[in-house]
Amino acid sequence: MVVDEVLKIIQRRRSSRVPFDPNCLVSEEKLRLILEAARWAPTAHNMQNFQVLVVDDREVLGKIGKIKSRVSEAFIRENYQQLSFSEEELLRKKVGILGTNFPPDWRDSATLDRAVRESSPSPLKDRLSGSPLLLIVIYDSRKRAPASEGDVLGFISLGCVMENMWLMAESLGISVHVLSVFSGDAVEKKVKRLLNIPEPMKIAFAMRLGYPVSKRTKQLRVRRDVEMLAHHNRFGNTGFS
Ligand SMILES: Cc1cc2nc3c(=O)[nH]c(=O)nc-3n(C[C@H](O)[C@H](O)[C@H](O)COP(=O)(O)O)c2cc1C
Repeated sequence: MVVDEVLKIIQRRRSSRVPFDPNCLVSEEKLRLILEAARWAPTAHNMQNFQVLVVDDREVLGKIGKIKSRVSEAFIRENYQQLSFSEEELLRKKVGILGTNFPPDWRDSATLDRAVRESSPSPLKDRLSGSPLLLIVIYDSRKRAPASEGDVLGFISLGCVMENMWLMAESLGISVHVLSVFSGDAVEKKVKRLLNIPEPMKIAFAMRLGYPVSKRTKQLRVRRDVEMLAHHNRFGNTGFS
């Protein structure tokens, strides 16, 4: 029974790239459960290398919303590599995302140069899309997992924090959208200044939470089959299905 429910929540969790209702607030009780889930996340050496900054003040959200960000050339070009151009293609590939999530210029190799040239700064308000709650996950860049080159294990730990919070939110019926843009140099600098985040703290990512304005629409989500990712005793020995 519990196994079924855990799996259902894992499978149901998804990115909600839709506007949220600014007047539909996440209750304090639910927020506390999400923070409790963060607290219990596994981290390398149990170093608990994170802080969570909860932003739910409309005025502060408004100020964050005014910060402008510009999509980088690297993002536009590398994003293109992950795209499928039809649902059939995505179903066949089982990895990546649908091109229709992005502007038309980003989906055509012939117009990529133009998309890069014309990429202009837009306010974060467009990404926050009405969200009444923003969680900013911060890490202390001095805390490093022992003997982990580039603190890879520390970063994996931050991913565990993300997933714990995301699954808890899902189980509470709260929608989540991860916003990596907060960790990009230009935006990070401005957000840190605005919210008094001291050096040497760094922003890992932000998550906007809330309830969509309109009902959840069906969205094509794909994953590889287990036999495409699991190997038995020797690499290449697939056969789990
Ligand atoms: C580390 C990380 C960063 C992500 N950054 C973003 C982001 O900036 N914007 C976004 O829309 N989705 C972001 N995502 C969500 C992924 O694109 C998404 O999880 C993936 O496409 C699978 O879709 P699903 O979440 O609906 O299952 C991020 C996910 C992870 C794990």
